[in-house]
Amino acid sequence: METAQARDGAERSVKQKVCIVGASGKLGRYMVRHALDRGYDVVGVCRPGSVGKLDAFNGRITVIPGATDDRDVIARAVAGCDGVLTVLVPRGVHHYSTGTAQAVLDHARPAARLVFSCGWHITRDGQDVYSWKLKAIVRAFGPLAKLARFADLDDQVEACRRVFASDTRWTVVRGSDLEEGDSQGLPLWSRHVGDPVLESNRTRRVDFALFMVDALTDDDLVHEAPAIVGRQTPSALAHAGRDGST
Ligand SMILES: NC(=O)c1ccc[n+]([C@@H]2O[C@H](COP(=O)([O-])OP(=O)(O)OC[C@H]3O[C@@H](n4cnc5c(N)ncnc54)[C@H](OP(=O)(O)O)[C@@H]3O)[C@@H](O)[C@H]2O)c1
Repeated sequence: METAQARDGAERSVKQKVCIVGASGKLGRYMVRHALDRGYDVVGVCRPGSVGKLDAFNGRITVIPGATDDRDVIARAVAGCDGVLTVLVPRGVHHYSTGTAQAVLDHARPAARLVFSCGWHITRDGQDVYSWKLKAIVRAFGPLAKLARFADLDDQVEACRRVFASDTRWTVVRGSDLEEGDSQGLPLWSRHVGDPVLESNRTRRVDFALFMVDALTDDDLVHEAPAIVGRQTPSALAHAGRDGST
């Protein structure tokens, strides 16, 4: 939390405001919880038909219904926000991810911390080393999903390319395979998929959300694309700290 000097000289705390774009999904709702726990004012954006999924937070957050790639919706939602947490989903074939990312990049305050979610398949510098299994899934699922007009992985790739190229204070968090379950604490991360610490390829969704929210105040993650893994997974326990990961 930032502090400001009150007129009488005493320090007072200034409540920080964060926007969660895609708040009604599984990851989004975990992020809402973590953000409220940390005392943030929370604004959530979700599709109009999904507003009911946020009923548990009635009276504690502001909900702005709308498509997350609607520039007017995003402009209203991020106004005055110190941070924006964006769930990038490659759903549909109408550049939903790219439109969402671009709207956030264009409308968030220049000094705002921007944190985006995606999967390990996104690479920032081409130095990631992928297992045959992940390569096969992307190769098979990508075209099939596009053909069925269900999802477009290339859209998430383009969205992240635009984030990487922007001069905003961004972090792109790359999630491993996910599972439900109690928190194991803040995930470990590495710059490159293929590093031994990530080998277990498993993170609790609640901890993915924790990492996203924690990144808001971790300046070491500005302009990083951390690939994350659960703190209690075998590879994390075996390799933590040996290769520069946290
Ligand atoms: N699932 C995995 O195993 C996995 C692995 C690694 C990384 N990730 C990343 O984690 C993040 C969250 O993914 P998740 O799989 O866990 O799902 P999730 O948190 O449930 O989020 C899904 C999001 O997609 C929206 N959505 C669903 N159908 C849509 C449609 N037809 N058009 C537009 N939006 C639609 C949902 O909105 P509504 O609430 O309105 O339906 C929700 O905001 C993503 O960035 C993903 O790339 C996921």
